[in-house]
Amino acid sequence: MSRFQIAPSILAADFTQLGQEIDHVLAAGADIIHFDVMDGHYVPNLSFGPMVCDSLRRAGVSHPIDVHLMVENVDPMIEAFVKAGASYISFHPEASKHVHRSIRLIKESGCKAGLALNPSTPLDILDFTLEELDFILVMSVNPGFGGQSFIPSVLNKIKAIKARMRDVGMDIPIEVDGGVGIHNIAEIAEAGASMFVAGSAIFGQQDYKQVIDDMRHQLSSVTE
Ligand code: DX5
Ligand code: ZN
Repeated sequence: MSRFQIAPSILAADFTQLGQEIDHVLAAGADIIHFDVMDGHYVPNLSFGPMVCDSLRRAGVSHPIDVHLMVENVDPMIEAFVKAGASYISFHPEASKHVHRSIRLIKESGCKAGLALNPSTPLDILDFTLEELDFILVMSVNPGFGGQSFIPSVLNKIKAIKARMRDVGMDIPIEVDGGVGIHNIAEIAEAGASMFVAGSAIFGQQDYKQVIDDMRHQLSSVTE
């Protein structure tokens, strides 16, 4: 497996053809399906829930499904997505009353647990959680909508997380979400990220394979 993983966000897909869109993007070389769950409370937008994830599994999608919970009701949604076949689950620490408990709930189910950090979320939240996590999702836009521009200060945040992990001898994947495309993926990887969420950059183009190939080409020049 490549050291870099590309996770198309189906938020930008054509929902009337969702099954085909997913088959198409996986055939084009995507590694993971990024699944943005919005509840209209934590973020001012609504998307889709566990029934859609369950349908994808029933339809035979076997690639990892990366569930990004932008919801207030964190623990019940974790339980629902575990049942629906999620592989990775991340949530926003501001939304959970008991962050450590929510992380444990994910891990005890066998899924990989991540914290999703907004552009303004300080890294203090990692003080007593980092050792528990399987990955960290760094938001490079404010959550709620696809198609926004990448916030450049996030590059320093990725570097700071990388440095912090080095200090404690950890190296879990950093996933970056929002405004990622061919033009900036190499710079984001150089900062220390290894999982890349891309919605509009992929689904906004006709040829998904061309976009993913171009992203991998950009990543091939990134040094360790
Ligand atoms: C934003 C979502 C992102 C979004 C990314 O709240 O978490 O996953 O779909 O979309 P693009 O790649 O278009 O910025
Ligand atoms: Zn997301």
